[in-house]
Amino acid sequence: MAVTARAHPNVALLKYWGKQTRAGNLPAVPSLSITLDSLHTTTTVDASQRDAVILNDELVEDAKIGTALSLWRQTLAIPPLKIISTNNFPTAAGLASSASGFAALITALNIWADLGLSEAQRSDLARQASGSAARSIFGGYVELSGPDWLAVPVAPREHWPLNVVIAITSESRKATSSSSGMRLSQRTSAFFDAWTRTTAEGLAPMREAIMQRDFAALAEQAEASCLMMHAVMLSSRPGLMYWNPSTLACLHQVRDLRSSGVPVFFTVDAGPQVKAICQPQAVPDVVAALNTVPGVLRTVTCGLGGDATRIDPELTDR
Ligand code: PMV
Repeated sequence: MAVTARAHPNVALLKYWGKQTRAGNLPAVPSLSITLDSLHTTTTVDASQRDAVILNDELVEDAKIGTALSLWRQTLAIPPLKIISTNNFPTAAGLASSASGFAALITALNIWADLGLSEAQRSDLARQASGSAARSIFGGYVELSGPDWLAVPVAPREHWPLNVVIAITSESRKATSSSSGMRLSQRTSAFFDAWTRTTAEGLAPMREAIMQRDFAALAEQAEASCLMMHAVMLSSRPGLMYWNPSTLACLHQVRDLRSSGVPVFFTVDAGPQVKAICQPQAVPDVVAALNTVPGVLRTVTCGLGGDATRIDPELTDR
């Protein structure tokens, strides 16, 4: 019997960029994220003669999924699979589709193949496929840090129900994947050591800002982490430029809003979309302001989402 699971992308407020040299796809820095609600990946797993992957209604050869399955098969009995995976948002454009994708896949697979994995084990296996996927196993506020590099929930979404307004400035796939971008930065950015040091130092204060619901502190820390990560990307050789002109215009718009008293801050991942994190009462102002920025195609408003879980596709909207 086929099994379907759904997981949500997450947005890191303390950013992950860079990997350890030892095996296991271990991050070089800790990270802290929020899981989103309205965006999701829905993945169905079923038996097949040979592995087949249908991504957004197209039969594809997906190298990342192939690599993840070979890796997982080193320790788990996973028969040949048919995987049908659908995102309700643009794939590989800086919206963390690999995070929700691998979290949904390992969650569906766990039930379908009766693997008996705990949440921690699913987080571990998801991380081996994509670092940020470890965090999408859980809802709310989630930390991924050493020495175990298993994601752990820091606070449930009810603790501080913030909103995220995403300004979509491009629907195309990104030019450099995060894995190769990270390797390039590690090899060539003169800022990389400073990045790993300051990110490690930034974990406890950010956790504290979340526990205290201190918006001003979280805004300052999250924007600093985002801009420093992009400084590392830009200072790689050749420099990685994930922004377009509209991305930068959105950042100015968010800063202008905050100066005028609207509780909002920004973050940007390895792509051109801007995520504006705000208090619920600020959502209409943030949506209106971002939609006036030239180049913004549309905005998507999210609340905070829950854990990766099995769903009944008959009872749930696509
Ligand atoms: O998990 P990956 O390989 O897709 O890398 C994610 C990297 C960033 O999205 C840029 C930052 C993060 O912490 O999610």
